[in-house]
Amino acid sequence: MGGYTRPMLTLGIETSCDETGVALYDSQRGLLGQALHSQVAMHERYGGVVPELASRDHIRRIVPLTRQVLQEADCTLAQVDAIAYTEGPGLAGALLVGAAVGTALGYALGKPTIGVHHLEGHLLSPLLSADPPAFPFVALLVSGGHTQLLKVEAVGVYTLLGESVDDAAGEAFDKSAKLLGLGYPGGPAIARLAEQGHSGRFGLPRPKLHSGDLDFSFSGLKTAVATRIARGLPDDQARADLACEVQTAIVEVLVAKSMAAVQACGLRTLVIAGGVSANRHLRAQLDAHALRQGIRVHCPEPALCTDNGAMIAFAGALRLQAEAALAQPAPITAPRAVTGFDIRPRWPLSSLPRPGENRASN
Ligand code: KG4
Ligand code: ZN
Repeated sequence: MGGYTRPMLTLGIETSCDETGVALYDSQRGLLGQALHSQVAMHERYGGVVPELASRDHIRRIVPLTRQVLQEADCTLAQVDAIAYTEGPGLAGALLVGAAVGTALGYALGKPTIGVHHLEGHLLSPLLSADPPAFPFVALLVSGGHTQLLKVEAVGVYTLLGESVDDAAGEAFDKSAKLLGLGYPGGPAIARLAEQGHSGRFGLPRPKLHSGDLDFSFSGLKTAVATRIARGLPDDQARADLACEVQTAIVEVLVAKSMAAVQACGLRTLVIAGGVSANRHLRAQLDAHALRQGIRVHCPEPALCTDNGAMIAFAGALRLQAEAALAQPAPITAPRAVTGFDIRPRWPLSSLPRPGENRASN
């Protein structure tokens, strides 16, 4: 990416939920290394993330993963120019691990640290690809807890076009998977089972498909799935058909609203990000509809869709570089006396300032 004031090596740390991610991003050479540890196997038997177990596992993994990334990138800590960690939103205990390690490293190295908004990480991750989209674009952000359509004009210049009024699309996948007796996380499990099924056998609702706005609602879908299961599913084929219908219903609404958002903004570029954007049916349907309407769709490679350290390193680097270009001091500069650090378990993306603007406090 051009426009940087000087080359900068950023260490990114992600610990907001059930993945410990570390990465090194160089503003000129790109991603130099990344490592990820997923806690899925640990949480699986509980049917979802157990926050206390998540925090403890982040503590165990973060230092070995950081060493691994430095080794892979053939770098030393002394070469790192800045440290970015996920400040929120997410699980408080899990966030504290990344924030504590990031802040301590920054203090010890005398380098700036920056707290990154997890969703901004997702939102900007498509810019890491070999063929990055140009601003402005419309972004469909579909993670476990958020479903939002945004107009993205520059780093930090985001307009919310629509969002879910209740459950997120990822939640609809996860809750439907649980009702079907599938494992956690539910999205990939539903997608796998759906491959053996056919849509159309069970008429699930397409909530808000024709609402005329760009908002979503997915909680009714989960209720419809529960009702259908309570009436009895005769065999494995019926389970696969229901999984397929869940995926089809969610994807149909996401695609229709995304296309409408791009048209409403008079733009021609759509970017998708967040865990659900790894869904192959969603990617295929978006591609098909976009082709017909002359819209270009940018999807991050699947490993960058779900949580990772690379997107945090990258978003932190973009923010620090934007601040530097404005000749503003970095939001948090080191060395400084470590009197504490912020985490923001609840942090709406809409409250994120543009580079150079002061952050609103909690
Ligand atoms: O962005 P992410 O990794 O974590 C959050 O920030 O929430 O998103 C996790 C969500 C979960 O709901 C998971 O079921 C969903 O992304 N997901 C998928 C797929 N892979 C992950 N949903 C549908 N199809 C997939 N292939
Ligand atoms: Zn995420």
